[in-house]
Amino acid sequence: THQWRGIIEEYRDRLPVTDTTPVVTLREGGTPLVPAQVLSERTGCEVHLKVEGANPTGSFKDRGMTMAITRAKEEGAKAVICASTGNTSASAAAYAVRAGMVSAVLVPQGKIALGKMGQALVHGAKILQVDGNFDDCLTLARSLSENYPVALVNSVNPVRIEGQKTAAFEIVDMLGDAPDIHVLPVGNAGNITAYWKGYREYAEDGLATHRPRMWGFQASGSAPLVRGEVVKDPSTIATAIRIGNPASWEYAIAARDESGGFIDEVTDREILRAYRLLAAQEGVFVEPASAASVAGLLKAAEQGKVDPGQRIVCTVTGNGLKDPDWAVAGAPQPVTVPVDAATAAERLGLA
Ligand code: F0G
Repeated sequence: THQWRGIIEEYRDRLPVTDTTPVVTLREGGTPLVPAQVLSERTGCEVHLKVEGANPTGSFKDRGMTMAITRAKEEGAKAVICASTGNTSASAAAYAVRAGMVSAVLVPQGKIALGKMGQALVHGAKILQVDGNFDDCLTLARSLSENYPVALVNSVNPVRIEGQKTAAFEIVDMLGDAPDIHVLPVGNAGNITAYWKGYREYAEDGLATHRPRMWGFQASGSAPLVRGEVVKDPSTIATAIRIGNPASWEYAIAARDESGGFIDEVTDREILRAYRLLAAQEGVFVEPASAASVAGLLKAAEQGKVDPGQRIVCTVTGNGLKDPDWAVAGAPQPVTVPVDAATAAERLGLA
């Protein structure tokens, strides 16, 4: 008879909180795990989508942010700061409101989706557009948090990872065991780090019989983990993962190697194809960066890397409404009709 209480209450015994911790929550988590029929047919596998766009601010960042803002409040912080490609800032701004704190966000100028900017604005964040990329924003945010009274809530803050690992718990709780393969888009590499930690903990405690192989996908123009070196001027239409020097670099490599997985790249064209397939054939509207996981799965299948019969989960990280430009771009303009059933029927091809 009660609703989902948010990840801290649902997984309290697995998170760094005490009985007196002042929990700041928007009841994040508990997101749908949706069977993907078309992707399952294409790969000969049992494919599920973990739909993180269903979180309160429309992305997986809320799982980490409930922990980060809760911890900041516990420590008496009055203000928080983050660097962001858009989703972290939207989430930080919303949770700061819940906590009665001020939020400051640093975003790369001209490179964040309109919906995300709107979120930060409407939640009252102090926004600085930085003349640089995400990596520059993170350097600046770190420096400010070290020298001024403001708490850093990027995923370099370890409690963010703690919160985000709960997505792996939910998947195992739902499926009854870990999947064989878990596929994720990778940007700053916090999320692949978090899922791997969650899967490891459940397996160590006997709640799963095994751990999945972790498959991560970066956008080709922003693929430092694939290249093995920092990308100085990252580019991709998937602005959420336009990152050239991921903060959790070593952890992502560890997740890849310890799980027997890989990290590969997908082109913007492949991302947009997967984006359209998800919307038009699975009924799931995600933002472009989220489609990198599915684009990667399809690429791997075409390369013969996907053995049939496996259970695969793809995380789709953010809601399509955040960046609707890509849905509208290139699509035909809807036709205008008078208030007349015969004309409408004709235009709809019904008559
Ligand atoms: N998908 C979306 C929609 C994201 O917003 C991000 C990261 C990622 C994937 C990649 O996750 O960084 O943990 O590897 N967005 C951050 C932000 C950088 O500022 O919102 P990651």
